[in-house]
Amino acid sequence: RDIKLVEVRSELAAGTRGASMGIDALKVASLDKKSDFFTKFDPVNVKDANDYLWRGNEHPYAKHIDGVYEVIHNVYTTIRDLREKRKFPIVLAGDHSTAAGTIMGIKAAHPERKLGVIWIDAHADLHSPFTSPSGNMHGMPLAMCLGIDNLEQKLNDPLPGTVAYWDKLKNIGGEKPKISPEDIVFIGVRDTEYPENYLIEKYGITNISVAELRTSGIPSAASKVLDRLKACDQIYISFDVDSLDTSISKGTGTPVPDGLTLSEAVQLNEALIKDKRVCAWEIVEVNPTLDTENAMAENAFEILESTTRSLVQNF
Ligand code: ARG
Ligand code: MN
Ligand code: MN
Ligand code: MN
Repeated sequence: RDIKLVEVRSELAAGTRGASMGIDALKVASLDKKSDFFTKFDPVNVKDANDYLWRGNEHPYAKHIDGVYEVIHNVYTTIRDLREKRKFPIVLAGDHSTAAGTIMGIKAAHPERKLGVIWIDAHADLHSPFTSPSGNMHGMPLAMCLGIDNLEQKLNDPLPGTVAYWDKLKNIGGEKPKISPEDIVFIGVRDTEYPENYLIEKYGITNISVAELRTSGIPSAASKVLDRLKACDQIYISFDVDSLDTSISKGTGTPVPDGLTLSEAVQLNEALIKDKRVCAWEIVEVNPTLDTENAMAENAFEILESTTRSLVQNF
């Protein structure tokens, strides 16, 4: 496949500062490991909007939504253009909100293709400004793509200006939802809030827990995920590094115990990316400012490199 590396130094949507430096931490890790990975691909840089951090935040339930909108829109056009040229985007991003732009871009390039999403994460990222406990928009990308506000579980009263931006975000790439709930499979999700649990239950969204993955083994868990998405024509894989166990994921904004080991994450991504329908892969949320000795980025880089190798070897 014709791989294109995409770099998105986003961090506006995270609750802690520093995720925009995650890509550079991955590059430092690759140099320390004497890997030639970054010499093989000529990356495209997506323009960030991190200058919004210096302005006041006017949107308590969707922090910096104006800047987040800009970045997601930039990711959307980049990914749409790459997919139209039949490129396989490997996206390195800071905070996870930009995954919405990736999904919107994939969908816009091929609207007739049913898009499945494999979301490997400790979190479900299904909040809207109406339900978010934090106002951090990295907890919202899947709701944007599903077009779901979840007013049934409303907790917050966002300002009219916030709601207007939220509606604009959901409509990037057209008014229709980009994905359907039945075409999402979670892996490792273990830290959700009740508005998210409500949606997971309502739509019967599958989550392969870390325990289930261990009992069944990686190969059979991977086949189960891919089989669950058998109706889909194309698949996007989103890997949030907080899916990893806290013993190896201190350098991320929202670490959660009882996650995947490094070897489980490596094997899982290697297995999933072999499916011919997979058309983009993304890794997010490395934050070196929360880390010691760049451990998070070193682990994340190992996953990035092995997953890319698996992709290349299978085509
Ligand atoms: N559910 C929590 C929130 O909305 C945490 C979200 C974390 N998301 C992430 N991409 N790390 O605040
Ligand atoms: Mn997460
Ligand atoms: Mn929580
Ligand atoms: Mn996430």
